[in-house]
Amino acid sequence: MKSHVLRPLWVVIVVIGLILLARQFIVPPDFGVYERGFMYGYHRKSNETEWENFKVKFRTKSYCKDCHPDKYESNMSSKHRIIQCENCHGPAIDHPENPPKLAIDKNRSLCIRCHAYLPYPTSQRAKIKGINPEEHNPDMECVMCHNPHKPDMEGW
Ligand code: HEC
Ligand code: HEC
Ligand code: HEC
Ligand code: HEC
Repeated sequence: MKSHVLRPLWVVIVVIGLILLARQFIVPPDFGVYERGFMYGYHRKSNETEWENFKVKFRTKSYCKDCHPDKYESNMSSKHRIIQCENCHGPAIDHPENPPKLAIDKNRSLCIRCHAYLPYPTSQRAKIKGINPEEHNPDMECVMCHNPHKPDMEGW
């Protein structure tokens, strides 16, 4: 073979060799195929116990129902029914023991996260009513005018 073919070929072989060598050090020893199947075949075995020990942080809405019935009712009868209380108030796994009160965030950024107008044509995100945060009543908390538990605009 001509050397202009051979020389880059050697480079390729050396690079592949280096990758195989590095792999020996980087890939954890318990990485492999455990259950045969199409999906999730390759994984790190010890990751299974890591996920079993993972502490779930969220309780979802039905948990709040008995202690905060007013907020639950208004939320469920509004367009915010499809979002979770904990999306705005943070995780409630050990509430009301620890913490006894969940956070109340009145910052505009809490709402802008979902309501800044984004014209993604192929995404459901574009269907959420959007505002331009720089023009829509800047310098005021959104909750001065909108009830976070019942934000429906009917009657405005
Ligand atoms: C077993 C009853 C109980 C459950 C269940 C419960 N809470 Fe509470 N929550 C309390 C008590 C008691 C307080 C402290 C008293 C107060 O200020 O209302 C509190 C306080 C709060 C506060 C702060 C209120 C304030 O005025 O500062 C928020 C926000 C809150 N809870 C949200 C939630 C959410 C969201 C859920 C469901 C994920 C939830 N709570 C589930 C009993 C409960
Ligand atoms: C869109 C964000 C959002 C969602 C969703 C939400 N909250 Fe709130 N919540 C707030 C904000 C902001 C305040 C503070 C409002 C204010 O002071 O004007 C608040 C205040 C509260 C308070 C204490 C103040 C009060 O008026 O008594 C409780 C309790 C509470 N929320 C419970 C809940 C529960 C339970 C749910 C679900 C059923 C829920 N929240 C869903 C944003 C939210
Ligand atoms: C001074 C009061 C006031 C403040 C503060 C305010 N809004 Fe509004 N908002 C209104 C009024 C009034 C309307 C209805 C008329 C309009 O569309 O401008 C409205 C409309 C909306 C709509 C519906 C838009 C549509 O296309 O129908 C959304 C979403 C909204 N606001 C979100 C927010 C968010 C998020 C914040 C904080 C970043 C905020 N608003 C702050 C008064 C306010
Ligand atoms: C996790 C995403 C999320 C957050 C955070 C959120 N919203 Fe919404 N909001 C929604 C969705 C989804 C709807 C319903 C869209 C629909 O059905 O048209 C909605 C609807 C609204 C509407 C329009 C109601 C109508 O009649 O069309 C207003 C106003 C509003 N939210 C204000 C707020 C305010 C103020 C905050 C902050 C306290 C907030 N939202 C936080 C997702 C969110």
